[in-house]
Amino acid sequence: MQQGSETIAAESFCAVEGVRHVYKGGTVALDGVDLRIGTGLFGLLGPNGAGKSTLMRILCTLLVPTEGRAAVGGYDVVTQRDAVRSLIGYLPQEFGAWRLHRVAEVLDTLASLSGMWDKGERRLRVEQVLEQVGLAEVSDRKVKKLSGGMLRRLGVAQALVHEPRFLIVDEPTVGLDPEERLRFRAVMAELAKDRTIILSTHIVADLGSGCEDLALIDRGKVVFRGSPSELLQRSRGRVVEVEVEQSGEMAVLELIEVVARSAHGGRVHIRGVLKGEGAVSGSMPVADPTLEEAYLAFMVGRGREIVLEGAEVAHA
Ligand SMILES: Nc1ncnc2c1ncn2[C@@H]1O[C@H](COP(=O)(O)OP(=O)(O)O)[C@@H](O)[C@H]1O
Ligand SMILES: [Mg+2]
Repeated sequence: MQQGSETIAAESFCAVEGVRHVYKGGTVALDGVDLRIGTGLFGLLGPNGAGKSTLMRILCTLLVPTEGRAAVGGYDVVTQRDAVRSLIGYLPQEFGAWRLHRVAEVLDTLASLSGMWDKGERRLRVEQVLEQVGLAEVSDRKVKKLSGGMLRRLGVAQALVHEPRFLIVDEPTVGLDPEERLRFRAVMAELAKDRTIILSTHIVADLGSGCEDLALIDRGKVVFRGSPSELLQRSRGRVVEVEVEQSGEMAVLELIEVVARSAHGGRVHIRGVLKGEGAVSGSMPVADPTLEEAYLAFMVGRGREIVLEGAEVAHA
């Protein structure tokens, strides 16, 4: 960064200042985003269309922002593109790989492309990344024979081949089954120990406990920035439980966005978030809101409709 470097140059940070992006046709995908992201797992949360992928493509130097600037590791994503590219690994939202090749071959080729000329060094590196993402046992398997979760982890492996300090993964858990989700989360938490990972998702649970910092993005703007526990704090009192006669359910549904519902003996038990400021008679705030519920409460509070999915949280 040439000017104003004192505010943005820290080499361990990803910094975004006043970024606005307008696509051809006029869609405003990002509308004045400021973020500073340090080591660890950073969650970029937001509904579809919020602008997550656009922001990630800007950080990866694939898209030039209409306004504002961004730096990765102190390098400007527009004027110092090559330096930025050497520092980042990117797993795009749509990741496919050469289906007829074997896992280790794909990585070996990508390692050569990233400038690792020495064959022995490359072999070691490929073994190492396969180990990191838990694919060592299938290194000889053809890509087309991988499960969805394995393919995503291969995507992470390809992004890691050149040992980037920054890893950008865009909605990596879409379409994975619960077991693969857990596995993926564990891989991310482990990798986040010594690098910056920016992970976008609209499935809150997929951030996992390894995430200590997050931004909530909606319609191109950062609407919340803080830790998961701060987001939980914000939802205090807004996540409630109520039990009503079946006949009274419709009235309650007007006031509560339902997360879980169960019926027994003519009565309905509902857990959800309050849509408005008004209280719902007979409802009690829950003592243990989940992060997803906190996210839902936040977005519903903004008048947004959010569909929760991928939740593995069981509500009694
Ligand atoms: N290549 C594009 N051309 C025009 N509009 C786009 C393009 N990519 C994304 N958009 C629009 O920009 C907005 C943000 O999209 P995106 O960054 O993909 O959001 P997210 O990843 O959060 O779902 C959406 O309204 C989307 O339709
Ligand atoms: Mg996206």
